[in-house]
Amino acid sequence: MSKMPIISLPDTAKALGESGGRVNVLWQQPDSLVFMARGREYRSEFHINPSDEVMYPVKGDLRLHYRTEDGKEEIADVPEGSVIYTPAGTPHSPRFAPDAYLLVVERKRREGEVDRFQWFCPSCDTLLHEETCVVSDYRADPVSKAYQKFFDSEEFRTCKKCGSVMPKP
Ligand SMILES: [Fe+2]
Repeated sequence: MSKMPIISLPDTAKALGESGGRVNVLWQQPDSLVFMARGREYRSEFHINPSDEVMYPVKGDLRLHYRTEDGKEEIADVPEGSVIYTPAGTPHSPRFAPDAYLLVVERKRREGEVDRFQWFCPSCDTLLHEETCVVSDYRADPVSKAYQKFFDSEEFRTCKKCGSVMPKP
C-alpha cells in the first residue's frame, strides 16, 4: 500500500456491497484506523470503544443509538453527507440499512485495550450480555464475531430479570 493512499469511497462501497461482507478496512495505522461499514439489519448491541469514533454516512442515513452517562438510550440522527464525533467510551449502536454505507475513523487499539459489546433487554432494559474482545486487526470483523456468539446462545439472550428472550434474526 502507498504511504499516502487515496481511496475512492464510492468504489469501496460498491465493492463491499458486491462482496456481501460487512466491513472493508481502508487502512490501519496506530493513530488512524479507517473502514467502510455496510448496515446490519440485526444491529442491537452497544459498542464501547476505547478509541474515539468519527462516523460519516456516505450513502443512506445513520441513526446512532447511544446511552447517556445515566444509562438512558438516545438517538442521534445523522443524515447522509453529515458527520458525527463520538467520544471514546460512549456506548453506541450504529443503525443503518444493509444498502447504506458508513465511513468510520478510529485508531488502532493500544496494548491492553479491550472493546466491549453490550446487549440490553428489549422488554425491561436490563443488561442481557456483554462480549469483550481485543481488536488487534479490524479485518477480522470483531462485530460479526460478537454477534455470532450472542446469537448462538439462548442463555446470553435471556433476560435474568424478566425472562424475555431476544430472538435471533
Ligand atoms: Fe428483561
